[in-house]
Order: sequence, then structure tokens, then C-alpha cells
Amino acid sequence: MSNQLEKVKELIQLREKARLGGGEKRIEAQHLKGKYTARERLDMLLDEGSFEEFDMFVEHRCHNFGMEKTKFLGDGVVTGYGTIYGRLVYVFAQDFTVSGGSLSEMHAQKICKVMDQALKMGAPLIGINDSGGARIQEGINALGGYAEIFQRNILASGVIPQISGIFGPCAGGAVYSPALTDFIIMTQGTSYMFLTGPKVVKTVTGEDVTQEQLGGASVHSSKSGVSQFQVQTEEDGLKLIRQLLSFIPQNNLEEAPLQPNDDPIDRLDDALNDIIPDSPNKPYDMYEVIGAIIDKGEFLEVHADYAKNIIVGFARFNGQSVGIVANQPKFLAGVLDINASRKAARFVRFCDAFNIPIVSLVDVPGFLPGTGQEYGGVITHGAKLLYAYGEATVPKVTVTLRKSYGGAHIVMSCKQLRGDINYAWPTAEIAVMGADGAVEVLYSKEIAAEKDPEKMTAVKEEKKNEYNDLFTNPYVAARYGYIDDVIEPRNTRFRVIRALQQLQTKKLQNPPKKHDNLPL
Ligand code: COA
Repeated sequence: MSNQLEKVKELIQLREKARLGGGEKRIEAQHLKGKYTARERLDMLLDEGSFEEFDMFVEHRCHNFGMEKTKFLGDGVVTGYGTIYGRLVYVFAQDFTVSGGSLSEMHAQKICKVMDQALKMGAPLIGINDSGGARIQEGINALGGYAEIFQRNILASGVIPQISGIFGPCAGGAVYSPALTDFIIMTQGTSYMFLTGPKVVKTVTGEDVTQEQLGGASVHSSKSGVSQFQVQTEEDGLKLIRQLLSFIPQNNLEEAPLQPNDDPIDRLDDALNDIIPDSPNKPYDMYEVIGAIIDKGEFLEVHADYAKNIIVGFARFNGQSVGIVANQPKFLAGVLDINASRKAARFVRFCDAFNIPIVSLVDVPGFLPGTGQEYGGVITHGAKLLYAYGEATVPKVTVTLRKSYGGAHIVMSCKQLRGDINYAWPTAEIAVMGADGAVEVLYSKEIAAEKDPEKMTAVKEEKKNEYNDLFTNPYVAARYGYIDDVIEPRNTRFRVIRALQQLQTKKLQNPPKKHDNLPL
């Protein structure tokens, strides 16, 4: 065999060795836990045959605790680029079979290299996390590696989309890279995220808690809101990442790809003309409205299990990607509270950063009253949503279906917050508050003076009717031009599409500033 052939053979063997990560036994152990390996995950995520790997031969440089004797090619993370539906993406996937996917100085450098490339090329970054955290033997070098990654997450934020899949442990400082990205997807039963694990929790607070209870997928998707998505399997998670990217542009200077659409733009949905119940306190399901107006009913909901009183997610109108924000009357009457405000604000800001128009569907009775909310800082959190809508320069189309009261009316993309097109259904009630509350405030003395209960009820009813006739309709707002048109509900799809078409060339810039001071 020639010298060259020998060297080629050696290369092939080295590659094979690198592809085995921590070796057959550890791969088997990974599979026994119901988890795929880093390379298997990337194969499923990317278009077939599109993956190009970087830094297969990287090794750690640690000599502590005999580490010089345990080296694995690639050092516990697989990095590179590939395509999703033909569009370039940069990826890293931590390899739990090598030192538990723990992050060393060199492991971090590999991740930083793909992050730098992604930012230079203006392409999304996807990270699959499955790691025991900072490589303990490397000490400060491992911690420094995290900081290098976080700094890049911060600089890339709002420039390229960043998505984190959590498919295993993600603990300690490691949690902050995903937390800085745009979307987190967690697998049920096999992933967890926490700053301090159950043992430390027990020592410090005495609390007995399992990993799952402390930071499992369900906890972070429904209680803390840290994770935007929870999925049953890794396959589902990887498919979801592909789907999510189809709604999103490559970077902040591009627009989301237009999809072919065969759903008629003037499709009428008669059921919408009769969806609002006669009683103002009866709910209906906002999902039905969303499903009826968007292309083929295809809605990718974000944060589905968190703050269900507001719905946010991606959909298309005539093939154009939009972000939908909609109050849900079926859950807590669609009231705005701390969590709903935070959830929607983050979504609105993502859409604005990435040139995705926002369609808001409004049916909101107000902000949730009470000490729980006030002590929790609902003023500051509500201000986030107000701020997000007000600073957004993307096309904003708002449809008010029923209630739009008080401060919540203002927050939900009203005309004066630079709403471009504000429509209302004839059932809309745009006022400072509902009739019941208004009558209590305005006529409390008259009502109290009436000793006969029957007469008291009659006075209340009379005043309420007067208030309803005057205010609880869309025409007062329409008379002042705060509502651009009152539309037939069944024609909402067409009117929204026409509005979005009109707004395609919208150009609006906020005053130059170092950065804003969003109420955090
Ligand atoms: N640094 C170095 N090696 C690590 C590591 C770390 N942070 N975390 C895991 N490993 C190694 C283990 O020593 C083990 O090595 P081996 O296969 O050569 O024996 C291998 O990774 C697998 O870990 P193991 O503990 O056997 O896996 P597990 O599935 O039972 O547990 C964890 C996974 C993450 C819960 C557990 O490894 C752990 O608690 N790690 C430390 C977490 C931590 O506190 N990190 C620092 C936070 S910044």
C-alpha cells in the first residue's frame, strides 16, 4: 500500500472512531435511557445527507485528575452545518456518551465556532443540549467556555433565530445558554433544566423534590414558562424545530419564506357570524376563530401550556407567515395577567425582531385584579406587552371580536400604539369597562339610596342599558377613526389578508438609541 493510501486509511479509521463518541457501551446506555445519540439527532433534524461536520478531531487539553489519559475525538459535542428544507442552518449537539456531554474549554470553542459562523452567514443556530454541565476537572476553563457561549447568544439575539432542544440534563450555569435563545423545546421524561439540583435544594431549603418536579418538561412548559414547547419524543422535537423554522426568516434582514397557498383568500366562514354567545359572560373558543381564518387551519402554537388565557403562535395568511396573539375567553375569561403579559410580550418582540407581521385577535375583559397580581408586579409585566406592541414596527393588524376594556384595550395593539389596521366585529365592546363595573362606580349613591330591592335592580338595569347603548359597541371607536372598519365576522380572513397585502411595503423606524429600557 502506498504511503498516501495508508494515510487515507488512517483518516477513515479516525473518522470512524470519532463517530463512535464515547464508544459502543455508552451508546447502548444512551439508547437504554430512551435517548438518541448526538449524531442520530442531527441526522433526523437536517435534510438527508446535508450535514457537514467541523472539528471532529478536537480533543480537550486538560491534565488534571489523569484526564490526559481519557481523550475522545470531538470532545463531547458534534458541530457543523446543514440544511432544513434546503435552507442553511448551523448546529451543535452535545454527546452524552463522552464524559456525560460535559462542557470543556475545547467543547465550548467548538460551539463558539459554529455560533460565529451562523452570525457571519446570517443563518439560524440550533443547539441540542444533553450534558452534565461544566466539565468538573477543567474548573474555571469550563466556566469561561460557558461565558464565551452566552456572550455570543447575546450578540446573536435578534439577529439570527436561536433554538434550543433540551433532550437530556441541562443543569447549573448551562441553563443560561438556552434561556438566552428564542425557543426552548423539552422532551417529556428525559430532559430537565434547573440551576441547582435536588440534592442542593434539599441541603439549602430542606425541600424534597425530584428532578422531574424541579425542572422537567411539564414544569417548564406549564408552570415557569421557561420552555416554549414540550414534546413526547425526540423525533417530535426535531420535527417541531423544522416546522418552526419554516415560519421564520434566516435573519433579521430577511423575510420569512412565502409558502404556496391553495386555500382561497376570500373563503367565507359563516359559523363566525354566530360564534359570539348572547351572554357577555359566556365564553367561546378562540382556537375556532384562529382555525377558521388562517391558511388551512395550520397553527403552530407557542407556549401552548403556559398562561392559556392568551394564545400565541405562528400561522400563514395567503402563504405569508404571521404571528398571532389572541385572548382566549375560554380560560380565565381571557383576562390579562402577569404570565399572559410576559408570554405575549416575548412573542411580539420575537416577531418584530424577525420581520413577522402580527395579527391580534382581541376579546379581553381587562387585567386580573387583586393583591396576588399587584404584589407580583403586574404593572411592570403588563407594561412589557404594552411596550412590545408600541415599539413593534412590523405590520400590525388587530381585530376586536368582543370585549376590549380599559388598560387592556390599550395594551392589545390599539390604534394609538401604531396599530396599522384595526378592525372590529359588530359584537365589539370598546369601553373603559363593562356595564356592571361602570354602573357600580358612576351610580353607587343612587343605587344605595334605593331601599326596595326590586327598584334597586330596576335602577341598575336602566343605567346598564343606558351605558351599553352608549359605549358597548364598536361604533363610538369607529366614529373617531380608532377602528378603521367594522367587518362581517365571516369575512375576517379576506379582510386580514387584504390588510396584510396593503402593509407589505410598510417602513417605520424608531428613534436611534443605544438600546431600549424595557420594564424588566
Ligand atoms: N464533568 C465531568 N464529567 C461528568 C460531568 C461533569 N460535569 N457530568 C457527568 N460526567 C461524567 C460522569 O463522570 C460519567 O463518566 P463515566 O462514564 O466515565 O463514568 C459520565 O459523565 C456519565 O455520567 P453519569 O453520572 O454516569 O450519568 P447519569 O445519567 O447517571 O447522571 C447527571 C447524569 C448529569 C445527573 C450526573 O452526571 C451529574 O450530576 N453530573 C454533574 C452535574 C453538575 O453538577 N454539573 C455542574 C453544573 S455547572
